[in-house]
Amino acid sequence: MRGRVALVTGGDRGIGRAISLKLASLGAKVAVGFRKNIDEAKKTVALIKDAGHEAEYFQADVSKYDEVKRMVDEARRSLGPITVLVNNAGLGISSPKITDLPLKYWQLQIDVNLTAPFVLSQLVVNDMINEGYGRIINLSSLSAFLGLEFTSGYVTTKAGIIGLTRALALDLASHGITVNAVAPGFVETEMIDGYFNMIDKWLGVKNSKEKYLKLIPTHRYVTPEEVAEVVAFLARPEAKAITGQVIIVDAGASLIPMRVLKSMS
Ligand SMILES: NC(=O)c1ccc[n+]([C@@H]2O[C@H](COP(=O)([O-])OP(=O)(O)OC[C@H]3O[C@@H](n4cnc5c(N)ncnc54)[C@H](OP(=O)(O)O)[C@@H]3O)[C@@H](O)[C@H]2O)c1
Repeated sequence: MRGRVALVTGGDRGIGRAISLKLASLGAKVAVGFRKNIDEAKKTVALIKDAGHEAEYFQADVSKYDEVKRMVDEARRSLGPITVLVNNAGLGISSPKITDLPLKYWQLQIDVNLTAPFVLSQLVVNDMINEGYGRIINLSSLSAFLGLEFTSGYVTTKAGIIGLTRALALDLASHGITVNAVAPGFVETEMIDGYFNMIDKWLGVKNSKEKYLKLIPTHRYVTPEEVAEVVAFLARPEAKAITGQVIIVDAGASLIPMRVLKSMS
């Protein structure tokens, strides 16, 4: 990965920070994308530089085309052609009843989770073609396969990105560009804390986050670093035979239905 430029959207915190640190540790120059938390972005870049690697932060709201274009241009000018794109920035907006979700929030999730990865792919693909190397890695979610209560907009976008992954993989295969998705189960970040807090409130339960763990066969949530390992593997030259695939990283959470059946026997 030495010398390759990797752009990680939402690279300032959560899973994106772990991905930025991992790619940098493999020698990539990392463009850490962020929207509003400049302090988090600075912290991620400082962690990378302290470890002796290269990174810079670049601001953009990925739902706004002009900002995304500016961010990509700045990153390219500063670090060089972008040959690894990690579409990590994402958001989920929950509502207790489907009638409660204003359409503007449905649209925002489409814009951030689905349209932005396509737009970013458009903006970097010529760099990849010119450099003869390209890796696009999209963050999907286990919820794309299993569904997830109160989050129809989020689940729809995370399923949609699997379609985008497969379609782009076909379109770009002849250029040596691979396109894959990673679908995590629940990962220990602020995103799931927010989700379980709402579940507690809306279902009138306590500690749903801890209770849910009992159902997961490994009794643990995934760590951001474990997701980052898989993303980094897909970004490496050695993964060139893998394209159009979705890799689930869920600590066994997708085995829950079998586990429930087992507990009935
Ligand atoms: N955590 C999980 O359990 C889990 C499971 C499956 C999939 N995922 C996926 O993994 C990815 C990272 O999740 P996470 O848990 O690390 O989430 P997180 O801690 O909530 O971080 C989300 C990141 O996305 C950025 N972002 C959101 N909206 C943006 C926008 N309009 N423009 C630019 N950046 C924006 C956030 O920036 P701001 O701080 O400015 O909002 C933040 O950097 C997401 O795509 C998520 O759907 C997460």
